Amino acid sequence: KMPILEQCYNLMDFEAVARGVMKKTAWAYYSSGADDEITMRENHSAFHKIWFRPRVLVDVENIDFSTTMLGTPVSIPFYVTATALGKLGNPEGEVILTRGAHKHNVIQMIPTLASCSFDEIIDAAEGGQCQWLQLYVNKNRDITKKIIEHAEARGCKGLFITVDAPQLGRREKDMRSKFSDTGSNVQSTGGDNVDRSQGAARAISSFIDPSLSWKDIPWFLSVTKMPIILKGVQCVEDVIRAADVGVHGVVLSNHGGRQLDTARSGIEILAEVMPVLRERGLDKKIEVYIDGGVRRATDIIKALCLGAKGVGIGRPFLYAMSAYGLPGVDRAMQLLKDEMEMNMRLIGAARVEDLHPGLVDARALVAG
Ligand code: FNR
Repeated sequence: KMPILEQCYNLMDFEAVARGVMKKTAWAYYSSGADDEITMRENHSAFHKIWFRPRVLVDVENIDFSTTMLGTPVSIPFYVTATALGKLGNPEGEVILTRGAHKHNVIQMIPTLASCSFDEIIDAAEGGQCQWLQLYVNKNRDITKKIIEHAEARGCKGLFITVDAPQLGRREKDMRSKFSDTGSNVQSTGGDNVDRSQGAARAISSFIDPSLSWKDIPWFLSVTKMPIILKGVQCVEDVIRAADVGVHGVVLSNHGGRQLDTARSGIEILAEVMPVLRERGLDKKIEVYIDGGVRRATDIIKALCLGAKGVGIGRPFLYAMSAYGLPGVDRAMQLLKDEMEMNMRLIGAARVEDLHPGLVDARALVAG
């Protein structure tokens, strides 16, 4: 009864298939958002408040949507964002995402709480493929320092410090599903006193340091040469502070709606942030990314029009991997590329440099 892969025509289709075939606990962990899941839903629907203002009679015979992220060339402006516990969805875990990312020449962000070990995910990379590390900061800074140094030694090209999770959000769907087995490498991240009655997310997060603050950022800058990006910044005041403290970028994100419910979507924050950064010349100093709810190439294009350097995509690749393994991830990425080519052509933008705020009408987004 399961549809064949070729019957998936967009990223939402993978979600529908995954829901039918995944174990209940795994589905609950991947699909859940915090509290009433208002932010999780808003993440995608916020894109629908932006309309295109295409240009006609532009030569769009050859479309090229390659770009760079933190200096690394990529074929399309998205990256595979960090999502914990890949083996809940597929016994091979995150290395499937590594292989998909390699095939499509996009960057993979490795989660601190991956199911595969960090080294397995690094070893699965091929031919100088770029990977980043997502960092949950441990209460024990020696552990954190070792993780950072090891990542740098193994060739990671960016350190994404998650700043929106001093405490893990309550994801009730996940808590109800009574998780028992994560298949994760939590020991290596210092996780202990695991309380399994709280769902997968909360059970594995006890080591995260809630005292982490702006005062700690210079220390991170001093212990690594990797560019540092703060993942989970949610207003322009904090983006300015990030630029001032000297980090290399921010991800405007609400953690896929899994943390503070009724927090704003990444795309809405972007609309607030970019005009101020441009005014202050800070748009040249830091790279701005967004994630959350990106499901269509039009979502990617809207984010780039508003000034994002790129976007992160999480759940769709988890669902594709859970339903179909590597061929699923491969097809999901290819579908985005096909959509990208068509939509860039229809908007009248032949390359990423041609995308600008004048190509969108974001008044409904800004007005709320
Ligand atoms: C996440 N996300 C996340 N972020 C992070 O910094 N560390 C983590 O361990 C995880 N783990 C995680 C697990 C699962 C199952 C999901 C769905 C998400 C958040 C992730 O990086 C990203 O912010 C969102 O997933 C983006 O939203 P979409 O694309 O899933 O809508």
